[in-house]
Amino acid sequence: MNQQDSLKQLVGQTAAKLVKNGMIVGLGTGSTVRFLVDALGKRVQEEGLAITGVTTSNRTTAQATSLGIKIVDLDDVDHVDLTIDGADEVDRDFYGIKGGGGALLWEKIVNDASTNNVWIVDQSKVVDRIGAFGVPVEVIPFGASKVFAKFEHQGYQPQWRTDEAGQLYRTDENNYIIDLKLGPLTDLLALAEDLINTVGVVEHGLFLNRVNQVIVGNETGITTLTA
Ligand code: 5RP
Repeated sequence: MNQQDSLKQLVGQTAAKLVKNGMIVGLGTGSTVRFLVDALGKRVQEEGLAITGVTTSNRTTAQATSLGIKIVDLDDVDHVDLTIDGADEVDRDFYGIKGGGGALLWEKIVNDASTNNVWIVDQSKVVDRIGAFGVPVEVIPFGASKVFAKFEHQGYQPQWRTDEAGQLYRTDENNYIIDLKLGPLTDLLALAEDLINTVGVVEHGLFLNRVNQVIVGNETGITTLTA
């Protein structure tokens, strides 16, 4: 395992300890969350940890259920105690970018429904100013090229996201993703506002001040940033 994966495993295993018996837990998506779900599956099997999970992608559902974690629909629970998710970038004001794994829509919905939100990241994700990663934007397929053209006109430097086969990437909701390659961002609130008000946009990957805690894995161990 390379060093970055070791850090992802470390934060995943650390965050798994935050989960207590009886909790309804939101499970994020991505390679870091995979380690979290592995650790939770182990606790379910070895300690009899009893939790109910809601997930942010079909991928996470498949992994969690294969490990014996009970998964239900978000609409079948009246609250979510704690959601643990990864991130692509986060700054010290807890402004972040998500959606590198294409699950930003369900991730934001579960985040919104959750009483507490924790992100788990390796140190490479903590930046002074978010944006270099790009901003993923989920759009419905109907008229998507019109939305793309609008972004081009606005200077947002859009790129279609494609899959391994070179086809347009499809989310779990069968939508497309357009990645905006804007570089480090200055006016985040204005951008977020503009994106969500663009007809055809379902959701964007700017997660502004939506977490209580960020658990960062670095070469000396774990650092916890608290809002
Ligand atoms: C998926 C996400 C992921 O949480 C984000 O891309 C981080 O992924 P990874 O842990 O693989 O680096 O937002 O939509």
